[in-house]
Amino acid sequence: MLNQEVYDELTAKFEKMYGEKPEVVAYAPGRIEVLGNHTDYNEGFVFSAAIDKGTFFAISPSKDESCELTAGDFMETAKFSIRDVKPAKEMSWQNYVTGTFNWLFDGNPSSAKHGFRAMFLGNIPLGAGLSSSAALEMCAALAFSKIYGIEKDRTALAKIGQKAEHTFAGCPCGLLDQASSMYGKAGALVKSDFRTNEFESVPMGDGVAFMMVKSNAKHALVDGAYASRRQACEEAAKYFAGVLRKGGVTHLRDVTMAEWVLYRGGLSETTAKRAVHPIGEDERVLQGAALLAKGDLKGFGALMYDSHESSRSWFENSCEELDAIVDAAKAIPEVYGARLSGGGFGGSCCLLVDPAAADRIAAQISREYKAKFGDEPVCSLIRPSDGAHLV
Ligand code: GLA
Repeated sequence: MLNQEVYDELTAKFEKMYGEKPEVVAYAPGRIEVLGNHTDYNEGFVFSAAIDKGTFFAISPSKDESCELTAGDFMETAKFSIRDVKPAKEMSWQNYVTGTFNWLFDGNPSSAKHGFRAMFLGNIPLGAGLSSSAALEMCAALAFSKIYGIEKDRTALAKIGQKAEHTFAGCPCGLLDQASSMYGKAGALVKSDFRTNEFESVPMGDGVAFMMVKSNAKHALVDGAYASRRQACEEAAKYFAGVLRKGGVTHLRDVTMAEWVLYRGGLSETTAKRAVHPIGEDERVLQGAALLAKGDLKGFGALMYDSHESSRSWFENSCEELDAIVDAAKAIPEVYGARLSGGGFGGSCCLLVDPAAADRIAAQISREYKAKFGDEPVCSLIRPSDGAHLV
C-alpha cells in the first residue's frame, strides 16, 4: 500500500469509529541500517536511512481521562485511563504507544490534562528488521506532543521511544531506530554519532539505491540474544577501561582495533569475539564516510561485505538464511555491497545496488534462496526518505 492510501484508510476508519475527524495526524518512517552494527549502545557510529514506508498515527483529545487506542490493521482496541498506564501483556502492540505516552509525561501520565482517542496504521512489513516499532513510537510521540502542547526536540523524542522499548516492550535497544526515523532525509544517509547524538545527512547520489531482502528466518530481539550481546560489549568495555593506560574509556567506542589485538587475551574468548565487532564497525563507518565523500560506492559496498563477515564470525548474530542472501549478492556485479541490517538473528539484509538492475538482482537472489530453503525472500527497492513529521 502507498503512504497516501494508508493515510486515507486510517482517517476513514478513525472517523467511522470515533465519529469525528482526527485533530492531529503524524507520520514516521521505518529505517534501514547500512553500516555500523550494534555500535549505537557502544556510543559509536552508524550509517542508516529512513525508508519510504512508515506508520501514521491519528489522534483527538477525549473529554475526560479515558484513552482508546486502536490498531487500524486488525481493529483491536485497548481502553485505559491516564491513571492506569502500564505495560500490557495482552495486545502487547500497545506498549510502544503507552510507553511513549508515559515517558512524554516523565513517567507521570496522570498529569495529562485529558485522555485521547487514537488509531494507527502503517505499511512497514513486520518482523523484517525495518523498525516498525520505532516508527510507531515516533509518530505517536509527535502526535502526542502536538495535542498536549509539549515541546521537545527530535533527539528527546527519540530517547522517549527508546525508554518505552526498555521499560514497556522489554528490549534494551540503542537509539538507532528512533533517531533514524526522526532524522531521515530524502536521498541521503543519516550518519549518527551516538556519543554526541549528532545526526548528519550524507547525500547518496542518484545512481544508487538499497534493496532490502527479507529472509523468512525469525527475528526477535526480545528473546535475550540481543541483550546478551549488549552485556558482553559492556563487560568488555569495563575490562578495557581497567587495562588501557589511558583515561576516559567508558564504551567500546574508546577502544581501537590495535588495543583489542594487544589486550584481548584477558577476556574470555566469547567476550573478545563480541567486542571486536562494534570496534571494527566504528572503523568501517569512518572509512565509509571518506569513501562516500569521494563517490566510491564500490569501496563503500566492500565495507558492507566486511561488516556482514564480522557479524557472521565474531558477533554471531547472522544465520544461514542471511548468509545465503549475502553470498548470492556477491556474485552479482550490480550489487556493490550487502550485509545484515539491524539486530540480526533473522530479519533482512540490506544491499547497495544499481537500481536499473533491481528486477534482475531480485530474481537471481530469490532463485538461489528458494533452491536452498524452499520459500522465497521478499525483495524491495528502498529509496532513503524524509523522517517523521506532522501531516
Ligand atoms: C536493533 C536495535 C538498535 C541497534 C541495532 C543493531 O535495531 O533496536 O538499537 O542496536 O539493532 O545495530
